[in-house]
Amino acid sequence: MSTHELRRAVCPGSFDPVTNGHLDIIGRASRLYDEVIVAVLVNQSKSGMFTHTERMEMLAEVTADLKNVRVASFQGLLVDFCRDEDASVVVKGLRAVSDFDYELQMAQMNYGLSGLETLFMPTNPLYSFLSSSLVKDVAKWDGDVSLHVPALVAERLRARLAALRPQAPA
Ligand code: PNS
Repeated sequence: MSTHELRRAVCPGSFDPVTNGHLDIIGRASRLYDEVIVAVLVNQSKSGMFTHTERMEMLAEVTADLKNVRVASFQGLLVDFCRDEDASVVVKGLRAVSDFDYELQMAQMNYGLSGLETLFMPTNPLYSFLSSSLVKDVAKWDGDVSLHVPALVAERLRARLAALRPQAPA
């Protein structure tokens, strides 16, 4: 029997939708750990642009080439999900010091709750200004988001926004 314990990390978030910044962190985490679980929060209070299923589908497609990455759904406490999945570490991207305050609070709370570790990974400076909400806002006004999200996400954004746009009166 192998004594090697699988090192499993979790990248949690809302991913509404996944951006190139998220993908950068997921890809880098996948090179550090044996397995990475992208955990998509089921958020009852937050109505996103994409449904939970759509967000999961997009993530599965854009991470398909990363063989040790899988996408899963979670609700409730992140520490409970990590315990159930036997993952001992959460990997989070930090874009700027402004992210640090809240991320530090969550990391310390999670550590206090169950000993779950958090690893902060500095975002690639190419993506340091990027967020799902900014991407949605730019796309809403027909701005170009092709450098900020994978092509299939840009396409899904275009289609969703076209469907939401009020039709001109006949
Ligand atoms: O993409 P987001 O919205 O920044 O992700 C935040 C997320 C999902 C990581 C955070 O809200 C979370 O962990 N939620 C689960 C509930 C929980 O465990 N809360 C206590 C955290 S200290």
